[in-house]
Amino acid sequence: MESKMKIIGGVPLRGSIEAQGAKNATLPVMAAAILLKDQKLSISRVPDLLDVNTMADLLRSLGASVTFSGHEMEISVPGEISWETPSDLVRKMRASSLVLGPLLARCGRAVMPLPGGCSIGSRPIDLHLKGLTRMGATIELVHGAVHATTKGLVGSRIYLDFPSVGATENLMMAAVFARGETVLENTAREPEIFNLVEALRSMGASIEADGTGVIRISGVDTLHSASSRIIPDRIEICTYLLAGVATGGEVTVTDIIPNHIDSLLAKLEEAGATLKVEDSRVTVYPGERIKSVSLKTLPYPGFPTDLQPQIMTALCLAEGTSVIQESVFQSRFLHVSELNKMGAKIDIQSNSAVITGVERFTGADVVATDLRAGAALVIAGLAAGDTTMVYHLGHICRGYEAMEEKLLRLGARVQVISTEKEDGKGGPSFPGPSC
Ligand code: UD1
Repeated sequence: MESKMKIIGGVPLRGSIEAQGAKNATLPVMAAAILLKDQKLSISRVPDLLDVNTMADLLRSLGASVTFSGHEMEISVPGEISWETPSDLVRKMRASSLVLGPLLARCGRAVMPLPGGCSIGSRPIDLHLKGLTRMGATIELVHGAVHATTKGLVGSRIYLDFPSVGATENLMMAAVFARGETVLENTAREPEIFNLVEALRSMGASIEADGTGVIRISGVDTLHSASSRIIPDRIEICTYLLAGVATGGEVTVTDIIPNHIDSLLAKLEEAGATLKVEDSRVTVYPGERIKSVSLKTLPYPGFPTDLQPQIMTALCLAEGTSVIQESVFQSRFLHVSELNKMGAKIDIQSNSAVITGVERFTGADVVATDLRAGAALVIAGLAAGDTTMVYHLGHICRGYEAMEEKLLRLGARVQVISTEKEDGKGGPSFPGPSC
């Protein structure tokens, strides 16, 4: 259902909310269930998100049974499943490509439509396919779909040209049943990778991963039923902290793992924000206007690209000029023109954004072009002196559970309005598929 968010800004947020489970940890852990035969995977702290429900539908389409309520999910996988993924679901969410590795490992074949481009960049899966080929898969592209087959994957040494999160996860799952040892080098080191490692280990996989970017997997014959718990969503946590900073409020987020958000905390401290970090909670306090800072997005433990739009919003209100360099995705600046409509002063120069601080945002009708761009616009709306309407809220529902409820709890004046029945009032349109 398409919807928009009406925000009457200018209220400093105040209060405490709990972090949701991480979307980007949940999706690969769900995909890992495909490796089971006549067994179950129980997952706790699962966020109720559009993307999570899309992955559940994808698993169902392959033959698994998925139940999901109250943040608890159970995935039962029969002895026989389909190896063909439906194109409507794969096109709906790029992370659907995470089923390729486990399907190939389990069934010896997989058919998956190529996920294609999306609004934040071309996002190829060449590293996934190169790695699978090195493990003995034959990959063909037939009418825009990947057809992968193998008579049995074999352990190999695979060096990733870039520490891709998805490629690391796909190859790790593919290697679980491969004959011998697989050594993945230059892997991603995001906390979500280690959530998947823990889940696979609890299912009986043999994996060594010490956080140095090298992961060793010794093939096993079979896995068994298990349970797994999802880590807190570091991007969601930081989004609410940045909303606190931008509105000059006092926001506490609980149930967090502080060292997962070190890169943001360091930048906020550098900008002069007042913070308190405790065992499993963090608070931002009102203080002086923050100062400009510069940063570059990088793979973890660097500053996350998934927070770039949200911190840009906060830096629009900082004193001085900040520079943000986007090095992970090609075109992740779609929020910039919308922020400029709200009075921001941002210039794009190649892959950098030069942000000249302004005193305040002005409310406007703006369009969420993707998940994190949408979150950035919500933060700007909360900080603006008047009313903002954020269209295409569906993007935000992909990654933020109950955002309206959480913001209301923090004292914001927000309302989600369905636009489906409002003839001709669906808001400004924006080209480009979701991702
Ligand atoms: C994951 C996250 C996403 C986050 C991104 C980077 C999930 C479900 N999504 O996406 O929210 O923004 O990590 O932190 O976890 N690349 C290639 N070839 C490949 C694979 C990737 O060129 O085979 C490039 C991509 O185009 C992109 C960069 O590498 O420019 C990072 O991609 P990757 O780390 O793979 O991100 P995802 O796993 O897609």
